[in-house]
Amino acid sequence: MSKVDILTSFSAETFISKYWQKKPVVLKSFIPNFEDPLTAEELAGLACEEFSESRLITESDADHWELKHGPFLESDFTSLPDKNWTLLVQAVDQFVDGVADLKNHFDFIPSWRIDDVMISFAAENGGVGPHFDHYDVFLLQGSGKRRWRISELCGSDELVRSDTELSILKDFSAVDDLLLSAGDVLYIPPRIGHWGTAETEGLCYSIGFRAPSHAEMLEGFSDFLSAGLESETRYQDNTSIPFSKGAEIDPSQLDEAYSELQKVFADRSKFDAWFGCLVSQAKYPELVFEPDSVYDKIKLQGLCDTGQYLYRNSCSRFAFRRLQNSSELAIFVDGNMAILSIDCLPQILMLCEQPVLTNSDIKAMMQDQSMVDLLCQLLNQGSLQTDESE
Ligand code: SIN
Ligand code: CO
Repeated sequence: MSKVDILTSFSAETFISKYWQKKPVVLKSFIPNFEDPLTAEELAGLACEEFSESRLITESDADHWELKHGPFLESDFTSLPDKNWTLLVQAVDQFVDGVADLKNHFDFIPSWRIDDVMISFAAENGGVGPHFDHYDVFLLQGSGKRRWRISELCGSDELVRSDTELSILKDFSAVDDLLLSAGDVLYIPPRIGHWGTAETEGLCYSIGFRAPSHAEMLEGFSDFLSAGLESETRYQDNTSIPFSKGAEIDPSQLDEAYSELQKVFADRSKFDAWFGCLVSQAKYPELVFEPDSVYDKIKLQGLCDTGQYLYRNSCSRFAFRRLQNSSELAIFVDGNMAILSIDCLPQILMLCEQPVLTNSDIKAMMQDQSMVDLLCQLLNQGSLQTDESE
């Protein structure tokens, strides 16, 4: 029986080289004296909001799971049994600051890799059944105790049960059985089977990562590339060789089209630009919306003069990269890109890492015209907000 390692002291280097995307591991007391940043009632309140993405999973009779999607009504919760159910709410980090702060504990992985913090509240014996996910996840235990059974690596051909809407594994054979308490973390790499069951009711925080499939990336990148191509640039016949007759396709007629498409595809700088836009896309773009009036330099100066702060929209995603020419950088926010001089790096770091820009931060940024333009762009696309829009 292969046992999952239990680490009592944490080193990011060891974790990344030995476990990340390779092996599950328990990080015992990863956050000592951990206290939940929200209550189960607050989580249930969020699950009733129109904007939230939530699920209620009930094990109705032994070994049978039922799934309901939110938003829920208060009465959905008052009619629940004492045991055997779990409420899950996605992306709580976008709505509760204390939950967003939990991501700081995992800053040894780039922030743009994180998808969201999903929170589950499980009543006694509640769980979502044996399954696997396609992405990495840190399961941070909050209040209560949860038992996790872990299985081997699952293949995409793994059989899932057909008697439930959930992707529950037909065959689940545990190789380890672990009990997590407040502040413990269980890291699960992609496709490792796992099954959590509440020993005592409580909350669990899933810090989930993103792993776009190659099929998704191919589709997204080719859409991006084709948007930049002229409709006049088309397939052309090669008249220096004789045509084949009738229905036959002569492969040598395709050489030019094939090599032209390969040239378009081989542009690495385009791939890097598209990738930055992809990973900075907001999870809920409808929550990043334009302000009522347009911001320009004069309006921004007005904000500055009245001592205002700027706040990052909690639903926005910021990332940046240095360009190969090393004199410029690209900042990606909510799927859009801007190129700036590398001299702006300290301000860009501030924008990407601080949830709030103080009045003096803004004043310092306004010394540079390209930063003024960027701040206006970010305000106009709803990625930055003012005191009024908060
Ligand atoms: C849970 O919180 O119970 C489910 C999380 C997961 O298995 O990914
Ligand atoms: Co899972």
